Amino acid sequence: MKQSAVIAQLLSRYPLISDQISRPALATVLTQLDLTLQRAIEGDVVELGCYIGTTTLFLRRLLDTTNQSDTSRIFAYDSFTGLPPKTNADASGTGEQFQGGELSVTKKQFLHEFYKANLKPPITIKGWFNDLTPEQLPETIAFAFLDGDFYASILDSLRLVWPRLAVGGVITIDDYQREALPGVERAVRDFFQGKAIELHHEHHIAVIRRR
Ligand SMILES: C[S@@+](CC[C@H](N)C(=O)[O-])C[C@H]1O[C@@H](n2cnc3c(N)ncnc32)[C@H](O)[C@@H]1O
Repeated sequence: MKQSAVIAQLLSRYPLISDQISRPALATVLTQLDLTLQRAIEGDVVELGCYIGTTTLFLRRLLDTTNQSDTSRIFAYDSFTGLPPKTNADASGTGEQFQGGELSVTKKQFLHEFYKANLKPPITIKGWFNDLTPEQLPETIAFAFLDGDFYASILDSLRLVWPRLAVGGVITIDDYQREALPGVERAVRDFFQGKAIELHHEHHIAVIRRR
């Protein structure tokens, strides 16, 4: 998918503040958000698994640049205590990468990144995804980025987001078909079994559009 000049400009102008997303993957996520905005799909933007905000900052920048920050809110979710424990569904032959407790930053650190960048912070909610209630998500979601790394985290995210996703809305999921994180693809496969969806993937980002 060809990225727009606006996205190319944002990516060349601002740094990635962590190594938790690659540039091509981020470009894919932003391109999908841009398309969703161009199609005027009703609803807000959510990110489940925001960590320090590397992607969230760019979601905000794209909304600001396209003058959509007043109409689309951003909701960001994280345990803010790092990854939960790994389960058997996440076992991979690539070793002991990605352990429970890794990737821990505080909500304060996350919000501070927005302050430093002079950007409006998202609505930020601390908690484990399986403790979140539907009311803690926006009523209608136009665009979602799921980046919880593990089987249960992605499954819990899909259970929360899918019922609220607008027709034409898009879910993007990081680490799809990544050898070190096999639980992501398993969760996608299990959740969407028997459901008619459009799915493609590029740069380990799965893109799912609701018909
Ligand atoms: C790979 S990082 C996210 C990176 C971020 N999206 C970015 O693009 O820079 C994964 C994050 O998901 C969070 N996380 C994973 N599983 C979770 C769960 N079940 N509940 C809450 N947070 C979770 C971790 O705390 C961690 O901050």
